Amino acid sequence: MSVQARPKRLSVTQIQSRKGGDKIVCLTAYTSSVARLLDREVDLLLVGDSLAMTVYGFDSTLPIGLDTMIAHGAAVVRLPESALIVVDLPFGSYQASPTDAFRAAARVLAETGCTAVKLEGGEEMAETVAFLSARGVPVMGHVGLTPQAVHALGGYRSRGHAPDERDKITRDGIAIAEAGAFSLVIEGVAESLARELTAAVAVPTIGIGGSPACDGQILVVDDMLGLFTEFTPKFVKRYRRLGDEIRAAAREYAEEAAGPLPGSPAHLFGAAAPKRGREVTAGLAESGQAGPPELRAVTLNLI
Ligand code: KIV
Repeated sequence: MSVQARPKRLSVTQIQSRKGGDKIVCLTAYTSSVARLLDREVDLLLVGDSLAMTVYGFDSTLPIGLDTMIAHGAAVVRLPESALIVVDLPFGSYQASPTDAFRAAARVLAETGCTAVKLEGGEEMAETVAFLSARGVPVMGHVGLTPQAVHALGGYRSRGHAPDERDKITRDGIAIAEAGAFSLVIEGVAESLARELTAAVAVPTIGIGGSPACDGQILVVDDMLGLFTEFTPKFVKRYRRLGDEIRAAAREYAEEAAGPLPGSPAHLFGAAAPKRGREVTAGLAESGQAGPPELRAVTLNLI
């Protein structure tokens, strides 16, 4: 993405126009504070139903409901200024009928202020994608490894290695793109399949365990930051180990908080403004006083 300041949010038409052009950089986000940090670095933020696992500790994305997705969607929309924001339709909110899907999508758009929704599925969801698109709801599709179908798929294994499955996923992607989706997530499939599907559809593809040939990439932010470590899919590259940082900070805090002198004067209300450490140390030396051990500890903290 461009490093220049952007005056307003990217639109779905701007994303569409990137097909075969500048790569589309995407991450998930679930809270406004993280979304604000990511905003200028990415083109698109997805409030993914992966939050069921990363934020709520479930072992699949299935238990999360529409109200929860809307609450997180609204939080994420609040602070970022430039990234396009997409919110996942959760399991059970859209599969039964196009009308159900429209009701769920209308609530998501109206109550969060996001620009588009994402839904999982292939040929069987094409009618729904067409129904939503014709009624002004921008839809991002999602084919391949579709986590909401984890039980039907028999787990989170990568897909599209056998010819039948490969053909099916190709038909799925083409059906969703032709039904009017503005972009297509391809998750957890053989690299050559993601590459060929990218060439076969007119809309940008966003890979996650897809192919470098996809028009863009997405990762779950907690995975790439090392915050979610229950399991690590093969396609995840860890850019940081923030989980280790958090644990170390908590340990440091616990030692101080439980120690003889919790905190330091700099963080107390109504305490005399502390001198800088060297000044205090120098003052004590001049007066010939070593000072009590507590004061020496504070001095060290201030330096
Ligand atoms: O829910 C999610 O985070 C997703 C991404 C993995 C694409 O659907």
